[in-house]
Amino acid sequence: MIDLVIQNGKVVTSEGVLETGIGVDEGIIVVLGSEKHLPEAKKRIDANGLHILPGLVDDHVHFRDPGLTYKEDFESGSRAAAAGGVTTIMDMPNTVPPVATVEALREKLNRADGRSYVDYGIYGVLTEDNLDEIEAMSSSGIMGFKVFMGETTGYIRCPDDATLYRQFKKVGDAGLKVGAHAENDLILQHLKAELKAGGRVDPRAHLESRPSFAEHMAVSKALILSEATGCPFHVFHLSTKEALEEVITAKKKELPVTAEVLVSHLLLDDSYYEKLGNLIRLNPPIRNKEHQEALWEGIRHGWIDNIATDHAPHSREEKTRDVVWDAACGFIGVETALPLMLTQVNRGLISLERYVRLVSENPARVWNIYPQKGTIRIGSDADFVLVDLKKEGTLEAEKLYSKDRSTPFDGWRVKGLPRYTILRGNIIMEEGRIKEKPLGKLVLPLRRTGRKNQ
Ligand code: DOR
Ligand code: ZN
Repeated sequence: MIDLVIQNGKVVTSEGVLETGIGVDEGIIVVLGSEKHLPEAKKRIDANGLHILPGLVDDHVHFRDPGLTYKEDFESGSRAAAAGGVTTIMDMPNTVPPVATVEALREKLNRADGRSYVDYGIYGVLTEDNLDEIEAMSSSGIMGFKVFMGETTGYIRCPDDATLYRQFKKVGDAGLKVGAHAENDLILQHLKAELKAGGRVDPRAHLESRPSFAEHMAVSKALILSEATGCPFHVFHLSTKEALEEVITAKKKELPVTAEVLVSHLLLDDSYYEKLGNLIRLNPPIRNKEHQEALWEGIRHGWIDNIATDHAPHSREEKTRDVVWDAACGFIGVETALPLMLTQVNRGLISLERYVRLVSENPARVWNIYPQKGTIRIGSDADFVLVDLKKEGTLEAEKLYSKDRSTPFDGWRVKGLPRYTILRGNIIMEEGRIKEKPLGKLVLPLRRTGRKNQ
């Protein structure tokens, strides 16, 4: 007698769609096979009419815990994740205190312990003065390191080039990866000051203060440091055509480089500054259609590794300030990403298999937690989201689980909705309702290959 059987569904992996039952015991997938080969189970789910996807891995969320929990915390953020079919999140380090020391890392791990409804990885941050913390942090429960090369929430300053070089070396030596928010801060600061001096306070001034060449400069620098040190490197929320071209060149050279794009950059363009104002203020900014189309092309050609949300909650007051420079950057997304993107699958913009690769398999590979996470195969964690591809609905901000529910996607029609989310064999969401207590556990990179073998 095993714990759980899911039958009659269509199982989706990056390789294809398979009509097979799934057997789960003690949180692990133990059987894949036709009905008659499935053992007796304590619980059965009839997935007739549903597609079974590996639980989503969102490598870019800000759950704000500790220090900024008026915006979100592990409980509210991870409930939103569970509701959105996400079973593993990776939490960003721009909390208070920032995750820049072993001590701050311990504090974050304590905060997450017993409070998360989904599994989680934790990033550390590279700062101007934490070179000596990297080694100890690397063996204390971390997924990888992030560097903020340009100003964003919390304004953790970018280290100088020599420090960055030494940090990349250390992270590479520890067998981990650096990911960057890649925008050149000197350029951003100069342009912001100039626009402010000219009296600009409108939403579009944000885009003008963060031009594509600022991203291009930062991505180029990081790629050079990655090549020089051998440290694997990930571009968080890549948003420009030019930076994508740099990534493609690096990949052609077989450098250990990966890149992610955001749902927001795929679905919103600069016409929304006039429609929604400061609500869409995001770093890097929502850009014009030319960049957006380049990102979709990058997806279609397989140059983009994963799609994330950059779930970045703030209070309503922070999101509704009139002067653009005062309005908080970023907005929620972990709960709405799946229906929004299944809608694109239904529109034929991306195949279901490619979508699964981009939101489950590849993010798990990027952070070295594959095949524990990100796929449906024997021996992997039994993390699934069961979706009804034909079900239509309207996204309603007020029904979301985040503390503040401001979202640019309020009222959007969607086709394709999650029905069940399953974490290590436990149903944690059923028909929009969160079940179970917070069962989420820390996830760690599975093996460290060292930079020479990456
Ligand atoms: O707009 C953003 N907000 N971009 C980021 O990179 C960080 C995020 C936040 O933490 O609020
Ligand atoms: Zn972010």
